[in-house]
Amino acid sequence: MPAITFFSLLLLFLLSSASHLLADPVLGFTRSDFPRNFVFGAATSAYQYEGAVAEDGRSPSIWDTFTHAGKMTDNSTGDVAADGYHKYKDDVKLMADTNLEAYRFSISWSRLIPSGRGAVNPKGLEYYNNVIDELVKNGIQVHVMLSHLDIPQILDDEYGGWLSPTIVEDFTEFADVCFREFGDRVSYWTTIDEPNVSALGSYDNGIFAPGRCSDPFGITKCTVGNSTIEPYIAAHNMILAHSSATRLYREKYRAAQKGAVGINVYSSWSYPLTNSNVDIEAAKRYLDFVFGWILEPFASGDYPEVMRTNAGTRLPSFTKSQSQLVKGAIDFVGINHYYSMYVNDRPLDKGTRDYSADMSVYQRASRAKPPSGKQVPSSSSRSDPEGLQLVLQYLSESYSDLPIYIQENGKSNI
Ligand SMILES: *[C@@H]1O[C@H](CO)[C@@H](O)[C@H](O)[C@H]1NC(C)=O
Ligand SMILES: *[C@@H]1O[C@H](CO)[C@@H](O)[C@H](O)[C@H]1NC(C)=O
Ligand SMILES: *[C@@H]1O[C@H](CO)[C@@H](O)[C@H](O)[C@H]1NC(C)=O
Repeated sequence: MPAITFFSLLLLFLLSSASHLLADPVLGFTRSDFPRNFVFGAATSAYQYEGAVAEDGRSPSIWDTFTHAGKMTDNSTGDVAADGYHKYKDDVKLMADTNLEAYRFSISWSRLIPSGRGAVNPKGLEYYNNVIDELVKNGIQVHVMLSHLDIPQILDDEYGGWLSPTIVEDFTEFADVCFREFGDRVSYWTTIDEPNVSALGSYDNGIFAPGRCSDPFGITKCTVGNSTIEPYIAAHNMILAHSSATRLYREKYRAAQKGAVGINVYSSWSYPLTNSNVDIEAAKRYLDFVFGWILEPFASGDYPEVMRTNAGTRLPSFTKSQSQLVKGAIDFVGINHYYSMYVNDRPLDKGTRDYSADMSVYQRASRAKPPSGKQVPSSSSRSDPEGLQLVLQYLSESYSDLPIYIQENGKSNI
């Protein structure tokens, strides 16, 4: 299976400060230890990178609203971020100097189409054309993420963003603009970043924009939301939006542009905490909930059986035509991997349940390294190389013909 990887910027900087990627060994490896189609790269997301939030016609995204409402524990905002809107040329030069082979960035929907639908912002168009041209000029493969959590605020105001099926149409139109304007130079399109994290963070525990949740499931205090149903509805609309955009690409652009459209999944691996059958089952159930929630619909046209059983009618069902739209609507899987969990069985709660309760596992601790005696590491910020390997193996066994792109990995800072 072709695999390319995006190391985190942090790791890249370590590598590049030690030596050049192509020449001298780094941590005992050289470029020639990897196949040619294994591509080294790095990734950013628009809100975390661009800054210039009120410049050249960009309208606010839900993250502008969220950060300015003081919802980040460190009070940070993306107002300036890495100032990529102004400094992208320097950054591409750094990438070239580092011998980076690929770069994934995301498009700010509210910069490109400030009203959410309709008129394209010429300045937004110019910025992304410039970034892409600069990458092409430097021989760096361009990977575009269409939506990295930051949908236009105006669509959240109008119909609740991902909670409404209306977004499927608007997202498809946004994707159409991107395919049409950038597709001559972009072959790798990922539609949506981490639908699971986005659905849970935004609508179950409330820690991501637009910060919706309901008692007792919120991590923060939310004034609106319904944690028991909204994450499922949001993810459902994301899957439909992805599939609709993929269909459009295949019908209208693929013959000429010859690119591929995939979706990204957050991919923590799960190890059973003990060797008991119930814990081994719990670890499998976790994988069904993490990967299966997003990927199984593309394979079979429906959610995993255990999710349908445990969530019941709170999990939307696919109509026949939706099922046909979704099945097979994926050319590759992008994964983000930061850590692995030890899990054990948790009896299904009889009362009100959200997604995590439906999963009926306890997530005990992260696995930073192989267990030594009884010691289980407690930090969730350690990377687990073996877990990443197991994820790749699991995906290639479960969805055998799909290429995999590791779009983010390394040590997470949360
Ligand atoms: C964030 O802002 C609030 C309100 O102004 C303040 O109480 C808090 O100390 C700030 N936190 C940090 C980490 O700066
Ligand atoms: C959430 O939605 C469910 C199903 O419609 C409903 O029974 C429940 O009362 C709602 N909860 C809240 C907090 O609105
Ligand atoms: C989804 O994302 C969260 C991070 O917010 C992660 O801990 C979890 O393992 C992922 N998968 C599931 C099934 O929640």
